[in-house]
Amino acid sequence: MFKDCLDFSAEIVEKTIANYLKDFGNIDVVEAMRYSLKGGKKLRAFFVLESAKLFDIGPDLAKWPAAGIEAMHTYSLVHDDLPAMDNDDLRRGRLTVHKKWDDATAILVGDALQALAFELTLNRAVPNCDMLGCNLAKAAGAKGMVMGQALDIYAEKSTAALSLDDIINLQQGKTGALIQWAVTAGAFMANENVKPLENYANFVGLAFQIADDLLDATGDQIKAGKKLMKDASANKATFVSLMGVDSAKKKAQDLIDEACESIAVYGQRSDTLKQAAKFVISRDY
Ligand code: IPE
Ligand code: IPE
Ligand code: MG
Ligand code: MG
Ligand code: MG
Repeated sequence: MFKDCLDFSAEIVEKTIANYLKDFGNIDVVEAMRYSLKGGKKLRAFFVLESAKLFDIGPDLAKWPAAGIEAMHTYSLVHDDLPAMDNDDLRRGRLTVHKKWDDATAILVGDALQALAFELTLNRAVPNCDMLGCNLAKAAGAKGMVMGQALDIYAEKSTAALSLDDIINLQQGKTGALIQWAVTAGAFMANENVKPLENYANFVGLAFQIADDLLDATGDQIKAGKKLMKDASANKATFVSLMGVDSAKKKAQDLIDEACESIAVYGQRSDTLKQAAKFVISRDY
């Protein structure tokens, strides 16, 4: 059930974006945008579509913010992989944008994808699109994803070890903010109480990044589609670096249990989101 919904999310987002970019021409930066958006789990799009479904908002409308958040997330990955940041050659099983083209193209791809994220999300047909757009700016900016990315990069150079609270703060920005936006999008569109979804997102967001850190330490590079075993040598501050693999796994499991409890109010309607929470920590890509 969850896997079908995830596949559906990937399909609808790729279609929506391909259609949208049809008349953007084919200069390198646009070709590289199309390239970068292909592949990946499209989990954030799934969260948008699934939270919308809870409030009877269908994919005909929810596809716009779903495509928007994937554009934003993809921009963050293209920039994350740049030599000045994590310096990675492989993403989603293929060469990173700066390797296939060059650094300038990758920077511009990121810039354009960020703008595209707002263009898609602010589609006039989407209920409360202005609020979604404003929230997206906050989630992506210097109090959200960019803050987390900055702390992640600064920690590499730091000689003082980060505390657990520091790492939680870093990861809530780096990964949690966009996930929270995606998970709560449905409630914002429907003018409904966002609290249960917000709680679920806080737990799932953190568990997602712990799983990413575990993947780096213990995963299979071919399945993951990106270089692994890099965090330790880059002196990254992660749950795994702080508490080791076993405790990090236990922490992720506890978070997922709490995530599932947070959305119990929706009864069976939240079954797919519960399956998604379990997937987040059991995934190998
Ligand atoms: C990877 O995100 C980067 C992080 C935020 C940890 P995903 O694991 O969701 O990457 P894709 O979108 O599936 O490629
Ligand atoms: C990337 O985190 C987070 C964002 C792009 C916002 P990581 O650097 O841990 O992601 P991977 O491991 O390269 O996918
Ligand atoms: Mg990084
Ligand atoms: Mg990285
Ligand atoms: Mg990582």
